[in-house]
Amino acid sequence: VSIAVFASGSGSNFETLVQKAREDEVYHVELLVCDQPEASVVDKAKRLGIEVFAFRAKDYPNKATFEAAILQKLHAKSIKWCVLAGYMRLVGPTLLKAYEGKILNIHPSLLPAFPGKDAIGQALEANVRVTGVTVHFVDEGMDTGPIVEQAPVKVEGDRANLQRAIQQVEHELYPAVVKQCIKGEKATWQRKSVHY
Ligand code: GRF
Repeated sequence: VSIAVFASGSGSNFETLVQKAREDEVYHVELLVCDQPEASVVDKAKRLGIEVFAFRAKDYPNKATFEAAILQKLHAKSIKWCVLAGYMRLVGPTLLKAYEGKILNIHPSLLPAFPGKDAIGQALEANVRVTGVTVHFVDEGMDTGPIVEQAPVKVEGDRANLQRAIQQVEHELYPAVVKQCIKGEKATWQRKSVHY
């Protein structure tokens, strides 16, 4: 099964998704979609021999047109699932309609707590003892789609510690959940809810 990973930043989740894919044959990362051509995830993809579709949103009149360009790439590569890993944009109707129930995202909090930017900073600010990681289906909202899986992380030490702990959990959880979803062993999307 061919998947595309969408990312905007450093791409540590992208890298583990690629590495874990090579351990078995459940999915192949065929494409990186990146809206920041200078981001280090692009270098990682090149090093790993993965094709990149990099674009700048400002080179297009609006979201519908750059998503149409993405869609063309996805179809050309027979992509079945889109896996968001630090893609810092809301997905619009063009992609949502074409890939309904086939777009996953990972977020560094136990949603619905701390959606949006800097979830780790929000958790520290709120003084919670436990935060975590959520994998969810993507809908039109910001981190609002049906939840597929979650894992807790204890808040200990400083920000760097928490960031490291969350990253470690993400790298275990995301490839495993992506595989389960693709194999149909996990929740399936049905409109506004998830069926187990
Ligand atoms: C991760 O924390 C993920 O949960 C969030 O963005 C971050 C991406 O990190 N959506 P990386 O680029 O994979 O290192």
